[in-house]
Amino acid sequence: MTDSKKKSAITGYPVAHSRSPLVHGYWLKKHRLEGEYGRVEVSPEDADAFYRTFSGSGLTGANVTVPHKEVAAGACDWLDDAARAMGAVNTLWLDEDGKLCGGNTDGLGFLGNLDQLAPGWDVSRESAVVLGAGGAARAVVWALLSRKFTTVHIVNRTFENARKIADEFGPKTIPHSWDKLGTLLGKTDLLINTTSLGMSGKPPLEIDLTLLPKSALVTDIVYVPLETGLLKQAAARGNRTVDGLGMLLHQAVPGFERWFGVRPEVDDALRALVLKDLEETE
Ligand code: ATR
Repeated sequence: MTDSKKKSAITGYPVAHSRSPLVHGYWLKKHRLEGEYGRVEVSPEDADAFYRTFSGSGLTGANVTVPHKEVAAGACDWLDDAARAMGAVNTLWLDEDGKLCGGNTDGLGFLGNLDQLAPGWDVSRESAVVLGAGGAARAVVWALLSRKFTTVHIVNRTFENARKIADEFGPKTIPHSWDKLGTLLGKTDLLINTTSLGMSGKPPLEIDLTLLPKSALVTDIVYVPLETGLLKQAAARGNRTVDGLGMLLHQAVPGFERWFGVRPEVDDALRALVLKDLEETE
């Protein structure tokens, strides 16, 4: 190991279960690069100081996971458009003056996944329904607006949280409480679950898809299990579906390119590697 070796890491609390080292490790090996990608656990009380002094950490860059995405954004000298819109970063790098730059690639990960697995998915973009109003929903809303969706409906258990996102993103986004879902589905081109419902160990996502057009695409950001109840139900009635694993893989692409100088691909071998790891550990 030399001092000039580029080093990045997943930072957050906790980080033990993150698949990011597996993903970046695969690409480093594939491209025969000298770099390193590790894990740095940052406790909540140390987070602000850690990100504010990031240039002295010895890292070239980093990913940021929960619960530090907002704190890290606050420590950055420069934010990209997505990070500014979301108030949260998941990717950090230092510019040539040592200034801390932050990006949010979660929305790009969402887009990259659909572009790869459902080409042409954004040809019909009148109306999308986003279930949930947390950090992942923010990334998805940002992504859909970047692809010029006419209307993005945000449906959430707590109406207030949906309203907050709609206020931030403007008039193309409309907040709803859960009981409005039935009527909204009839005019939907794209349905996305961003809640944790349907994840193994969490309650199921109970939803009646009867009114959803058969032409609608259905996707889930939950990837454990890979085929969630929502995707199973949608596929059984003939809707096109895309699972959430690719979002995790594609969000990693811009960071790797920034730190290590090569734009990596999300290929079948990477997908299989991460799937195997998920099956072994879940
Ligand atoms: P993330 O940042 O990963 O998106 P989050 O901020 O915890 O995670 O958001 C989780 C989302 O799942 C929220 O929209 C949450 O709804 P509330 O805003 O009402 O809390 C939703 N969610 C979680 N558990 C739920 C449940 N049992 N029923 C309905 N919605 C649920």
